[in-house]
Amino acid sequence: MDILLCGSFDDDERDAWRAALQEAFPDARWHLSATPEIAARIDAAVVANPLPGSLQGLTNLRLIQSLWAGVDRLLADPSLPADVPVTRMVDPAMNAAMAETALWATLSLHRDFFAYARQQHTGTWRPLAQRRADEIQVTLLGMGQMGRACAGRLLALGYRVEGWNLHGGSIEGMPLHSGMAALWALLGRSDIVINLLPLTVQTTDLLNQRFFDALRPGTGLVNLARGAHVVEADLLRALDNGQVGQAVLDVFRSEPLPADHPFWHHPKVMLLPHVAAATDLRSAARIVAQNLQALRDDRPLAHRVQRTRGY
Ligand code: NAP
Ligand code: GLV
Repeated sequence: MDILLCGSFDDDERDAWRAALQEAFPDARWHLSATPEIAARIDAAVVANPLPGSLQGLTNLRLIQSLWAGVDRLLADPSLPADVPVTRMVDPAMNAAMAETALWATLSLHRDFFAYARQQHTGTWRPLAQRRADEIQVTLLGMGQMGRACAGRLLALGYRVEGWNLHGGSIEGMPLHSGMAALWALLGRSDIVINLLPLTVQTTDLLNQRFFDALRPGTGLVNLARGAHVVEADLLRALDNGQVGQAVLDVFRSEPLPADHPFWHHPKVMLLPHVAAATDLRSAARIVAQNLQALRDDRPLAHRVQRTRGY
């Protein structure tokens, strides 16, 4: 089997991935680039946001396996071979990392730790009223792999958790809603909103002025999904007029965040450099190997992306 590994890695990252993947799936020829002769032999591509056009001309390609959970950038490549299955990274280690980030953000918002950090900055000693976890309503937008992992941890700490998804259904221990009417109502009773949606045509720019106007003043916003979910000018306005009391932002429309972006120095923004849940190289390599083995054995592939719906 011939496999192409390509993506937006630096050299060290690429070498580490190659070593881990080769160890997890040794009985294959791994390639870092494809000359025309090799291109015709490639069976599978293991990719991390490759440059558009990278998978063109792979005439024998039967699988595109993403090392990223979110496949928005991959699917945005108009030259992506249309009839080749795309599978994405689903890894309990990554879900756990996301849940840790959501838990930290929720605790920090609930217990006013960001406000105390601002107080320290100005030498202010001013205890704020302490609230109980069961008084705090946390809304999770997106109840897939990440949303469910976060919900489990938040429920265990006693928060009131509600979720929003596309297809409805039910999840034990918490209400689940879908549809826009339900979203506006949900936003109006939330203390903290955590975004874990995939970036699709429907979810791009969802967090806009109308969304922020539907919140109660002072709501905490946590965006751990994609920057293009947020209309940044509208968020800045919502922070300045108090609709959003504090934002925790891990993802941005342009990454790295440009040096002159107003988020950098906004007193009510806590920034992370897209680290809410990094792909875990060790476990991910084993997960990729399982799908490559399924391809080799002609068994069903795990975690296939529905390309028409975008996630
Ligand atoms: P997932 O398992 O595919 O779950 C997606 C969830 O979003 C599902 O519950 C889905 O609803 C819901 N959804 C999709 N479109 C919707 C819409 N139009 N309206 C309402 N709900 C909608 O994805 P995941 O693995 O949890 O990952 C979610 C996202 O997290 C990724 O796409 C990626 O952008 C982001 N992410 C970020 C980081 C980071 O480090 N910041 C790391 C990993 C992932 P149904 O359940 O009804 O289908
Ligand atoms: C990270 O953002 C991912 O989608 O894996």
